[in-house]
Amino acid sequence: MNKPSAPKTNQAWGGRFNEPVDDFVARFTASVNFDQRFYRQDIQGSIAHAKMLCEAEVLTADERDQIINGLQEIEAQIESGEFVWSIPLEDVHMNIEAALTEKIGIVGKKLHTGRSRNDQVATDIKLWLRDQIDQIGPILTRLQRGMIELAASEANTIMPGFTHLQTAQPVTFGHHLLAWNEMLERDYSRLQDCRQRLNQSPLGAAALAGTTYPINRQYTAEALSFDKPTENSLDSVSDRDFAIEFCAFSSILMTHLSRMSEELVLWTSAQFQFINLPDRFCTGSSIMPQKKNPDVPELVRGKTGRVNGHLIALLTLMKSQPLAYNKDNQEDKEPLFDAVDTVSDCLRAFADMIPAIESRKDEMYEAARRGFSTATDLADYLVGKGIAFRDSHEIVGKSVAYGIAENKDLSEMSLEELQQFSSEISADVFDVLTLEGSVAARDHLGGTAPAQVKAAAQRALAKLDIR
Ligand code: ARG
Repeated sequence: MNKPSAPKTNQAWGGRFNEPVDDFVARFTASVNFDQRFYRQDIQGSIAHAKMLCEAEVLTADERDQIINGLQEIEAQIESGEFVWSIPLEDVHMNIEAALTEKIGIVGKKLHTGRSRNDQVATDIKLWLRDQIDQIGPILTRLQRGMIELAASEANTIMPGFTHLQTAQPVTFGHHLLAWNEMLERDYSRLQDCRQRLNQSPLGAAALAGTTYPINRQYTAEALSFDKPTENSLDSVSDRDFAIEFCAFSSILMTHLSRMSEELVLWTSAQFQFINLPDRFCTGSSIMPQKKNPDVPELVRGKTGRVNGHLIALLTLMKSQPLAYNKDNQEDKEPLFDAVDTVSDCLRAFADMIPAIESRKDEMYEAARRGFSTATDLADYLVGKGIAFRDSHEIVGKSVAYGIAENKDLSEMSLEELQQFSSEISADVFDVLTLEGSVAARDHLGGTAPAQVKAAAQRALAKLDIR
């Protein structure tokens, strides 16, 4: 007696199964709830594949056109919200393929010739991530432009520079902002680096070993704007370095944004009062009426944690995985998606907020004046008078101790008071003890002198213009 054919839960691979997949297992193994996010790239890849199959005479021109038209209709249905995603169809790939077959019949079943979901999904994520990178790059550039323009307008604003969060030497606010920009400049180049290395087409690797059809990998690579096809089929379907690299870029970027956030939080506090953040970037307290909290920088600082988590998730996902594709790889998507979303949102928030910073110049100046920030200048002055640096360091240390006891900054002491510590000190000392003199004297490439800051800002803007 013939066994009744087993109910097929999945038309793409149900053939060898004797019982349907358990309901929970179907839900547990499905990715369609999240991988539908790259339906557009899936269709783009399928169209390129169908065109290539026609060039290779595996499909007729009529079959190719039916497939392309069908896929375009499906794309329109997805976009209008009409398309019904099915969990038993597991993922975006099989949902779209099943819809195509339903639409155009047997020809739809030919699309998967010479292809596997393994090279298909690798292609899709690369295309998707490349699109995301191309959207994130310009937001980063917008942030940098706003930051550099603010730096140029704050080139003369004096604030304390810190080491160990203790007042160290006076710097200009513009110089501080340009330090931030350097971090972002490296982030931008890391992002482009990631894009450049990911831009090779895995399509044609099929399941893992390649395919027996006369495919043209160069053709699909070009059709999808990849620089070239990948070299090795096993590596093509198992490589997720690009996702790790993107998350590494994201983690470093978020680390930078968190450092900036921390400074913004400090600077807006009643203890520092270096800047104002406009109300639209802050929120109040439901109990303390006086509060204006710097929520945006705080939240960006906090979101660094989840992005770092995604990097670790992907590194751990790939650790010890044998070649080639393993179902583990389905777990690459959610961390990557969330890293992309978080980074995009944080960059947008920063790009909007940074140009709106209002500096409180008097408070910054006062803070720089209070902390003996020109002590190094006095030491350098004494070296100029022929005293060895270690000795001048000692002399200035004693002057500072006196200043602390007398509650006087160096620039507030009289010439006689200063001369108690060295007879080499004369009236010209006051040129170097002023904050303006101190910053202006650091007049070399990378220094904090206003003239250098203005020139550095111009160079930084010019780099943005050639992106
Ligand atoms: N949904 C799968 C993923 O995201 C697609 C590839 C499935 N391949 C397979 N051999 N089961 O990785």
